[in-house]
Amino acid sequence: SHPGWPAKLGPVRVAGGTVTVRPVRMRDAAAWSRIRTADRAHLEPWEPSGEGSWNSRHHISSWPSLCSGLKSEARKGHMLPLVIEVDGEFCGQITTGNIVRGALRSAWIGYWVSKEVNGKGVATAALALGLDHCFGPVGLHRVEATVRPENLASQAVLRNVGFREEGLLYKYLDVDGEWRDHKLVAITSGEVQGTVVDRLVRAGRAAWA
Ligand code: ACO
Repeated sequence: SHPGWPAKLGPVRVAGGTVTVRPVRMRDAAAWSRIRTADRAHLEPWEPSGEGSWNSRHHISSWPSLCSGLKSEARKGHMLPLVIEVDGEFCGQITTGNIVRGALRSAWIGYWVSKEVNGKGVATAALALGLDHCFGPVGLHRVEATVRPENLASQAVLRNVGFREEGLLYKYLDVDGEWRDHKLVAITSGEVQGTVVDRLVRAGRAAWA
């Protein structure tokens, strides 16, 4: 009922495999819980703090309510809660949130990818697909992201798809148990020549599958 939801994005091929993006679903519980629990050390320094222990928050039984909450926000047009797959296997999430229409037509985007497939272009490809979707079917004008200055890998991902730095947000978000400064980066639709994926392909970072 909202433009751009639900959506299947890709495929795009990168070093890690064939990347596709699709809506979250109830049967993601086991894969989500297994990866989020195993990869705690890889994820926790960069993720918003939550109630309770990491393991209880990521228990398989936590997924149904999380997933139905995300889907409800998606049906209202507020979010695009998507899963990243590599060769058909769940390996992370890419979420667009705070979708605002009217004269702003803006949202934020965030993502994580399992440690197993890190450093193989998966997040870059998923973010490019997500941006093209936001600027195309969803009809947004601006997408922003916030990232800790210490998160060099995520800053490389953002830079490689064309995000610009706009400033530093002082003690912006409760991450890993403390208020953390974040860099604010953004991209507007007019800054994209063709599509973001096209640009990755031209740069030799990805191929159409
Ligand atoms: N220093 C500098 N650059 C680095 C480092 C490092 N320590 N580690 C990796 N990189 C670079 C890589 O070289 C690559 O850039 P390049 O293509 O120019 O060489 C880039 O970071 C990684 O690109 P991908 O392979 O596409 O990314 P990947 O699939 O490995 O996912 C991600 C990166 C999402 C940051 C992953 O490591 C992850 O999930 N981390 C934990 C959670 C997280 O940080 N999420 C992002 C929060 S911020 C946000 O959502 C806006």
